[in-house]
Formats: sequence, C-alpha cells, structure tokens
Amino acid sequence: MIAYHPSLRDRQLLGLKDMGAAELQSILKRAAYWEAHEEKRIPVLEHRFIANMFFENSTRTRFSFEMAQKRLGSQVLNFAAAASSVEKGESVYDTVRTLESMGIDAGVIRLKPIGVLEELAKHVKVPLINAGDGNNEHPTQALLDLYTMQKQFGEIRGLTVSIVGDIKHSRVARSNLWALKALGANVKFCAPHSMQAAELEEHAPYVTMDEALDADVVMMLRVQLERHAEGVLKSADEYRAQYGLTTQRAAKMKPHAIIMHPAPVNRDVEIDSELVEAPNSRIFPQMQNGVPIRMAVVERALR
Ligand code: CP
Repeated sequence: MIAYHPSLRDRQLLGLKDMGAAELQSILKRAAYWEAHEEKRIPVLEHRFIANMFFENSTRTRFSFEMAQKRLGSQVLNFAAAASSVEKGESVYDTVRTLESMGIDAGVIRLKPIGVLEELAKHVKVPLINAGDGNNEHPTQALLDLYTMQKQFGEIRGLTVSIVGDIKHSRVARSNLWALKALGANVKFCAPHSMQAAELEEHAPYVTMDEALDADVVMMLRVQLERHAEGVLKSADEYRAQYGLTTQRAAKMKPHAIIMHPAPVNRDVEIDSELVEAPNSRIFPQMQNGVPIRMAVVERALR
C-alpha cells in the first residue's frame, strides 16, 4: 500500500476562497463523525503540540479550538499577545517563528491585519489555521455555519442565504460567500451603503431588507464597531430601525427559515434580544457546532 502524505498546503487552512466542494464536504463529514462520538476525549493526537496564537480578542473561536484540541488529546499552548513580548514590540513573524522553533506541530492564529497570514505561511513549516484575519477570512466560522445549515436542511445546494449587515468589515461574510457559492447556495447581501463591499457585488447582489427576509437562512452580522472609521454608524437606533432583525421583521420570515449570527451579538442593534434564543434561532447551536468542526480542522492539520 502506498502511504498518502498530504502537503503542508493541504493541511493548512488560510481561507475558503479557493477550496472546492469536495474538500468542504469532507471537512463537514468529518465533523459529523466527531460529533457522533459520545466520549468527551478521544486521544488521537496525544503527542502533538498546538499553539493558539491570538493577536486579537476572541471567546468562541479560541475556546472552541482549545476544546477541540483537548478532546483530541493534543497538548495545547495558549499564547495571549497582551501577556507576551509583543508588548515589547516583537513582531508577529518573530513570535510565530519563536513558537515554531520550540517544536509546535501546528498553529491556530488570529490577526488584525490582512495579508500577514498569507506571508507568514510562506515561511513557517508547520500548518497554520486561520482563526480570523482582519476582514479577510474566518474559515472555521463559515465551516461551522455550513455545518449548521446542513444539519438543518440536509443539503446546502439550492438554499437561499441572506447575509445582512456590516459586509464591508466582515471576514465571516467573505468566507461564507466563497463556501456557500462553492456548494451551490444562492447568496444575497443586504447592507447600508457605508457597510457594502463593492468588490463583492459581482458575487452576490445587494437587496432590500424585505427581499433579504425571503430566504431559508437569514444570517445577521455583528456591526464591527472596532473596525469602523468615524461616521460609518450614525446611531444604533437608526441602524436597528433600518437593518436590524426586529421581532416585526422576523415575523415575515418563511416558516421553515432559520436565524444565524456568528456572535458576539450586539443585542437590540443588529438583532432584537428576544430573537437570540427564539425557536428558529441557531445562534447557540452554531457555537456548539464549532467544536466538531474545529476537531475536523485540527485533525486535518496534523494527519
Ligand atoms: N464568532 C467569533 O469569531 O467569535 P469570537 O470573536 O468570540 O471568537
């Protein structure tokens, strides 16, 4: 038998823009495999060391990666920029190369600037997994979103997914767009002019809020206040009135349609607080689905 040794390129996960349907489906299938395991700990990666390097804050992504890594039995090193030599001016490149020299087998990384991860991956010899880079990509978030949709509807092909809100500043919107299109879904965007990304218009049309509600999935995005230049958001109340998923608007959704949001949620800005845990909301199940997805991605990096 000839042993298959996947290349570093096949094990890293920088984004979903160039990932084909077969590879996406294979990750979703593997996540279902891990989700079906009742044991909390399945130590298949016991002798592997993974560093979680977060240069930007996170709750869901960081902890679900750590949960996934620990469930697979790997040794986890958590790096927090605020408690590191980054505070003394050390660069991202030197930080990652430092951890690599110490012998990590893979790295999960979240960064603020765009383009740095792509460059890093050319110089680092261990697989890197993108945990969100600027407004570029957030591949594991989109994978868990796909997984949530697939669990709900059986298949993604033919679904209509409306992504509503701060498209311009959203890595979640971009990763979802690429993956949903690859799997044959119809994607619509809805955003105020100041939050539209003109370069994405050729891939998905911008529609009105009423048209956006006519979908199988209504995915609300967080208003990314931390990435805004002054003037993008005039008032939270005005935003809610024009683009928020209010209870009145949610009542117009199709009976089978679901609400999604990557979280953290600005309650009563992009979505009314009472909808966050409504029967048709999948916001907390999305977080739950993040663990088996990240188990599949970590395993793929270290196979
Ligand atoms: N959805 C998401 O990426 O959440 P965190 O910023 O908490 O990781």
